Amino acid sequence: MADRPSNRRMAPFGDADVEASAKQTMVNEVFAKVASKYDQMNDLMSFGLHRLWKDDLVAMLNVPRNARGFEVLDLAGGTGDIATRIAAAGGAGVRVTLGDISPAMLGEGRRRIIRERLLQRCRFAVTNAEALAFRGGSFDAVTIAFGIRNVTEIGRALGEARRVLKPGGRFLCLEFSRVDVPGVEALYDLYSRTTIPALGKIVTGDGQPYRYLVESIRRFPDAASFARKMEEAGFAQVSFRMLSAGVVAIHSGWRT
Ligand SMILES: C[S@@+](CC[C@H](N)C(=O)[O-])C[C@H]1O[C@@H](n2cnc3c(N)ncnc32)[C@H](O)[C@@H]1O
Repeated sequence: MADRPSNRRMAPFGDADVEASAKQTMVNEVFAKVASKYDQMNDLMSFGLHRLWKDDLVAMLNVPRNARGFEVLDLAGGTGDIATRIAAAGGAGVRVTLGDISPAMLGEGRRRIIRERLLQRCRFAVTNAEALAFRGGSFDAVTIAFGIRNVTEIGRALGEARRVLKPGGRFLCLEFSRVDVPGVEALYDLYSRTTIPALGKIVTGDGQPYRYLVESIRRFPDAASFARKMEEAGFAQVSFRMLSAGVVAIHSGWRT
């Protein structure tokens, strides 16, 4: 994994701006703390909806079901929700690399992949999305689910995702977006600011990591702005779909 740059970039975090490197340190602490309860919390917080959103992402990928080689990098792959779906959906030629900056999250992912007997199709890499430890043109597809908002410099991570794709390869990103249905918006805001940290405290013993997660959702760009960032990073045919009234969006782009 590459060292983090030493220049003093600033990034928004909570009520104060902190140095970019400090943000990544905090993100790492958050995921190290929640790793063992992460899957349980996802089900509770989203009423199980995250499973449907992830199914949608994997369906869009259209993984070959035959023996044709198909290399996927699942970035910020965490406990393996996307990697296991891709590995199970594909044929004998599918290979998924689960890449994440957190050894704790990756450890949970590895245990799960062994449990689900998918180890033959999966590899693991501790890697920073902003400085990927892979050669250019290595993957047919790069996916990232609920990970891009955690990286300090989104443009840099998008550029890296594009770099490691083969020409003709596809990038798919599932991320929280903006609810824009009047009424639902206010309810969702109240739910995420109060219930999610309270649930986090009950399940993990600490509400603070979940306050960070909620804050990072609020600060993440809306779907159209994120699509522009993808275009600026060089992706072609950028498009997005909103799911569940805009709670999340799936963005798609291609490397030409
Ligand atoms: C909310 S979890 C998402 C996990 C999984 N993709 C899912 O959808 O369930 C975010 C993941 O991003 C990882 N992460 C945070 N910053 C990262 C970075 N700079 N590079 C790679 N992974 C990062 C965290 O360690 C964590 O596992």
